[in-house]
Amino acid sequence: MDFQLIKNSISTSPAFVLDAEEIINNLEILNALRQQCGCKVLYSIKSLPFSPVLETAKPLVDGFSVSSLFEARLADEILAGQGGIHLTTPGIRPDEWDELAHLLTHISFNSITQHQRFAFATQTKTSIGLRVNPKLSFLKDDRFDPCRPNSKLGVDIDDLWQSSCLDQVKGLHIHNIFSATGFTPLIRTIEKLRGYFGKNLACLDWLNLGGGYLFNQIKDHSPFTGLVKKLKDNYKLEVYIEPGNAVVGRAGFLMSTVIDSFVSDGKTVAILDTSINHNPEVFEYQRQPELHEHDPKGRYPAILAGCTCLAGDVFGEYLFSKLPEIGDKVVFKNVGAYSLIKANRFNGYNLPDIYWHQDQRMKKLKQFTYQDYRRQWLAD
Ligand SMILES: Cc1ncc(COP(=O)(O)O)c(C=O)c1O
Repeated sequence: MDFQLIKNSISTSPAFVLDAEEIINNLEILNALRQQCGCKVLYSIKSLPFSPVLETAKPLVDGFSVSSLFEARLADEILAGQGGIHLTTPGIRPDEWDELAHLLTHISFNSITQHQRFAFATQTKTSIGLRVNPKLSFLKDDRFDPCRPNSKLGVDIDDLWQSSCLDQVKGLHIHNIFSATGFTPLIRTIEKLRGYFGKNLACLDWLNLGGGYLFNQIKDHSPFTGLVKKLKDNYKLEVYIEPGNAVVGRAGFLMSTVIDSFVSDGKTVAILDTSINHNPEVFEYQRQPELHEHDPKGRYPAILAGCTCLAGDVFGEYLFSKLPEIGDKVVFKNVGAYSLIKANRFNGYNLPDIYWHQDQRMKKLKQFTYQDYRRQWLAD
């Protein structure tokens, strides 16, 4: 990405920029996997359901994975029958089930009770599966770990093994990792699944391996392709993956302008015209986003802080070769996934405009206004 182009060609601030070439490149990496091992790829739209991303992904994937009725409706609108729609969620509402059953090609029920409640309630062509909790934790932080104690995500593998539920479904879904840059967790998870269910896996039609792997940051895909080939050969399974971050994470940038700067207890604090409103995971997980201007050898430290009233609305401390001044622009990198979709207008600050960068050109695709804020908060 040409950072000077972002700063010079965008006049409005803050701005969320999507790099189409990065998205296409990531999708092509996934497409190559499809060709190498025959896996099927779904884009997990929860990471960023912006329609130009969905339209860009559509020809290069086998469909979308969704978590709710609204996501399913959007997926249906964009795909228009040209791809599958797969859902798993703990949150199916009884009044939404009929419409969901009509929209979805595949569902992985999250619990045995959810399966019993809905699977037989409506005549449906949807292929029915279960999300299984393989009880293998690879994450130190419980907040990301679907296999944490007392997990709400998926049927406990022991309960599934003891029940007769496997006979009643066509597929299984697993998802137990976040931002992985190697396939060891997947290999160990599949080993465990095979240990429990062995030949019974051959009675299924499909296995969904979930998301969580940064395929675009992994050089050697052979452990993955080898695993998928084995699953296909041994059990004649259709194997799905549903990445989100691996498609859009590195394609997203947030440009912001310094609107104030002062010294607080001896440290320079630069206030930005963005905030953690636009990237709530910075606060939720206390994760400092990468900054283009950060210079590890820089002699000038400064805290970049958001513009809301929350004391902890802070992006972090960075090093600069020159202290940021009022009017300077800064760009956060690798913020395409789970940022804008979680963004809010706390304190009444507007959402960033959305720009699309393709063929050396920057195009504004979306602008939010006071009318959007007003529509949200005026009673009907
Ligand atoms: C069930 C499921 N599938 C897919 C994904 C996408 O994961 P990622 O964006 O890390 O690839 C998630 C993310 O939370 C998920 O919960």
